[in-house]
This record gives sequence, C-alpha cells and structure tokens, in this order.
Amino acid sequence: MKVFEIENICYSYPDGTRALNGISFSVNEGEILGIAGANGSGKSTLLMLMMSCLSPLEGRILYHGNELSRESVRNMRRETGLLFQDPDDQLFLPTVREDVAFGPRNLGLSEEEVTSRVNVALHDTGIDTLGNKAPWKLSGGEKTLAALAGLFAMRPKTLLLDEPTSGLDPKSRRDLINIIGRTKITAVIATHDLDMVMDVCHRVIIMKDGRIASDGEVPGILTDRKFMVSCGLEVPLSLTNRLS
Ligand SMILES: Nc1ncnc2c1ncn2[C@@H]1O[C@H](COP(=O)(O)OP(=O)(O)O)[C@@H](O)[C@H]1O
Ligand SMILES: [Mg+2]
Repeated sequence: MKVFEIENICYSYPDGTRALNGISFSVNEGEILGIAGANGSGKSTLLMLMMSCLSPLEGRILYHGNELSRESVRNMRRETGLLFQDPDDQLFLPTVREDVAFGPRNLGLSEEEVTSRVNVALHDTGIDTLGNKAPWKLSGGEKTLAALAGLFAMRPKTLLLDEPTSGLDPKSRRDLINIIGRTKITAVIATHDLDMVMDVCHRVIIMKDGRIASDGEVPGILTDRKFMVSCGLEVPLSLTNRLS
C-alpha cells in the first residue's frame, strides 16, 4: 500500500533557485524511509511539498492514490505530522502540556480525551516530568521531544521528520532514535545522520542537487564510499568501524 507517490516533481523558489529537479518515489505504508543528502540537496523542500506547504511547478503528489487537492490536503494533514528542523518553529504556548494539547484541542476532542492524549504523548516521548515547563526553558533535545509529543498527540499515520537529530547531544539523540524505532507508523526522515539511517530506516534515498542519486535498501549504497563522497556524504561510522 502506497501512502505517498511523488511523480516527477520539480520546484524552484521565487528567487529562481532550482531546488528539486524531477523527483519520483513512493512511500510505502509501515516503512521508515530515510532521505539523506548534503545541505542544500533539497530534503526540506521535498518535505514541504509533501506536506503541501509548497506546490510543485511540475509533476504531482498523490496521497493514498489521490492527487493532492484542497480536499485531499485536509485529509492528508490530519493524518500526517511534520517535525520542523528547528523545534522553536513548532513550540509556541507557555507550557509543554498546553503546546502538546493544542492540536488535539483543535480537533474538537473532549477535554478528557485531550488530557489523555497529552499524557500518553508525554509518556511515549519520555518527557512526563516536563509538562509544566516553558518550552523556551528546555534544552535542544527536550524541545525536539516536546515537538514530537505534539505530533504524537494528533495520532498521525505518517511522520515527516526534518533533521530530527541535528543539534542533539549523544543521549538525546539516542533517546530520539529509540522512540522513532519503537513507533510502528510510517515515517520519512530527512537527515545527514547516516548512523541513524542505519539504525532505524528500512530504505534510504540519497539526494544530490535536487535529484535522486540512489534509492535502495539499507545498508546497500551506504557502504559505497566513492558514491557517498560524490554526494557530499560519508560512509556511516558504524559501517567504517565494522569494515576496519
Ligand atoms: N526560501 C528559499 N528561497 C530560495 N532558495 C531556497 C529557499 N529555501 C531553500 N532554498 C534553496 O533550495 C535548495 C534546497 O534547499 P533545502 O531543501 O533546504 O535543502 P536541504 O534541506 O537538503 O538542506 C538550496 O539550494 C537552498 O539554498
Ligand atoms: Mg533541510
């Protein structure tokens, strides 16, 4: 079952920067798909297009077989959560609890249901004790987990995560990887943390200059040093150690 089908999309920013140049792939239900690539290769632009925050100039995006239109975008967004690269873009209410409650409350759920969802989301992200804290007082890793809790509270079917481990210390990074690994939902993770890709992704797409340079199973292509370097990446540390 295909959740997203991306068909030959191209995108240029208003200033003329060509960010994506003929991208095609599908996201299958239940898979954790890594999108790896150097800075500027188009990962964030791709996630913004999938979330319909930007519209493709060419090509089309299908969600569960339906081309994204005003109607199907609403449905897609109800079922899909996007974690921004910078959690400060996601957290805006005075306490973590209120922030996590914001989405479910907007769905018009009862206060009991909202509270229950918030408690489960805080628990699943391991931040039960941070509920009453102000988001701006949290560490970078805690902010990422709080933003993720906000997504979990919406009970999404698919998560789109933009560089979720960037800027995290080793323990927060490990915590986050464990949480992602435990979720049973479909996920697309844009990252250059290739060791995370090794740990949690079933499949990886390597992007280079707005195109797909490779799409295959993990570890597969990740072991090809020459190819990886040509894409501005490196062989994951966990593989180098194993090979040396
Ligand atoms: N708002 C923007 N306006 C103009 N160019 C942009 C904008 N955002 C990103 N770009 C450009 O689009 C390309 C892809 O960027 P991006 O999708 O952010 O890549 P990545 O997430 O892989 O680092 C880059 O060349 C970047 O400079
Ligand atoms: Mg990016």
